Amino acid sequence: MSVDGPVRVAVVGAGYVGLTTAACLSHLGHDVTCADVDEAKVAGLADGVIPIHEDGLADLVREGIAADRLRFVLGASKAVAGAKFVFLCVPTPQGADGGADMSYVQAVAGEIGPLLDHDAVVVNKSTVPVGSTRVVESALGRRGVSVVSNPEFLREGSAVSDFLHPDRIVIGADDQAAAIRLVDLFAGVRSPVVVTDPPTAETIKYASNAFLATKVSFVNAIANVCEAVGANIREVVLGMGYDRRIGSEFLRPGPGWGGSCFPKDSAALVRIAENAGYDFQLLKGVIEVNTQQQERVVAKVVEAADGTIAGKRVAAWGLTFKAGTDDLRDSPALAVIDRLGAAGAVVRAYDPTRRDPLPGVEVVADPYEACEDASVLAVLTEWDQFRWLDLGSVRSRMARPRIVDTRGLIEPAAARRAGFVLSGVGIP
Ligand code: UDX
Ligand code: UDX
Repeated sequence: MSVDGPVRVAVVGAGYVGLTTAACLSHLGHDVTCADVDEAKVAGLADGVIPIHEDGLADLVREGIAADRLRFVLGASKAVAGAKFVFLCVPTPQGADGGADMSYVQAVAGEIGPLLDHDAVVVNKSTVPVGSTRVVESALGRRGVSVVSNPEFLREGSAVSDFLHPDRIVIGADDQAAAIRLVDLFAGVRSPVVVTDPPTAETIKYASNAFLATKVSFVNAIANVCEAVGANIREVVLGMGYDRRIGSEFLRPGPGWGGSCFPKDSAALVRIAENAGYDFQLLKGVIEVNTQQQERVVAKVVEAADGTIAGKRVAAWGLTFKAGTDDLRDSPALAVIDRLGAAGAVVRAYDPTRRDPLPGVEVVADPYEACEDASVLAVLTEWDQFRWLDLGSVRSRMARPRIVDTRGLIEPAAARRAGFVLSGVGIP
């Protein structure tokens, strides 16, 4: 809670970021109204039905509703009257030119501008091009209402914990008094706070995601070197990670990075730099390595099927872009499956969070069923349960004993004992 007690807050957008923000602010003791344009979503949330898979979120939403500190309304204009802070958490998808599309943010700003209290602070959490805080100011059309940038660093799957125990809070504001009020709103969260100007805060967000994407592309590139020279990536990253300057996080090789943020944010940063006259070749290389990584995984599956995949069955374990979420946005698993389908493979997939069929993929409710008559099993998402499945049972269902494990979940010795030929990313 803030040092002055509960504060009235509006959150616009009840997606992964907005719902987490609303539920956590209400958990901190504030009085939160969360708005969305999706009628079914609002009705469900009002009954405590959480539309996404996000650890710990359902409990906080129900806690907030029960304490009458959290409510859901249809449309931004119903949420903002009397609010001292309005958080913008609407999407900023990748536009046709690679840059972020600001149209939702601008439309919401235009809608709420006339309704805001004179001392309201608008807090932008959506990832927006550098300079957009000022665009929001003009879309609001309100003198005296401050707009502050407060980028989110919420990983899907651990968003609640990332909100309540962040590595840092970044606030970009021209109006120092507004920045201090926002720091105060987060008084229940222990964290270093970086207060800066809006363009710097916006750049911190892009630079952080681009750096993390660079780390993953780097490790995937080193994995490719490992394959060529007979080294083992698992031990390479272990040896690298003990160096505190490098750190051991974000060094897991795999099928490439995906999700709702890295792909669009890295493309947007390339575009932002280009517009400012800088050719960000390093980041272009990072993106290129990522695309190649998906192609390399497809090639590994084709190779495991003895060079031709057309007409053969492939079992896919994992559909989401990473474990801990039900989010399919820009999932490398789907990119690989799409390419396999285009090459004529018949893909049957299992994912613990998905049951509905997807275009070109049969989705089944059991990981063993996915393996029926398959020529290759491709492990594409790092769900922990894939480590513990019975490989003998998997083997007995498959047409041929081949596994391509892109996430390093299956012990090579156990796979060999069960009669499999295993290939992975960065292992000899
Ligand atoms: C967010 C941010 O907004 C994005 O900029 C950031 O980079 C990643 O995280 P996210 O919460 O993942 O996006 O998006 P999503 O789950 O799609 O939720 C957005 C919500 O906003 C949806 O529920 C949608 O219905 C709602 N919405 C969209 C509005 O309420 N009003 C609109 O005008 C548009
Ligand atoms: C990201 C940011 O981490 C978070 O701070 C916020 O800005 C939103 O975007 P998220 O998209 O949930 O979070 O996923 P993250 O955990 O960062 O992973 C991104 C992608 O990288 C996933 O596809 C993941 O599988 C991949 N990854 C991550 C690896 O392949 N190896 C790793 O070691 C780490």
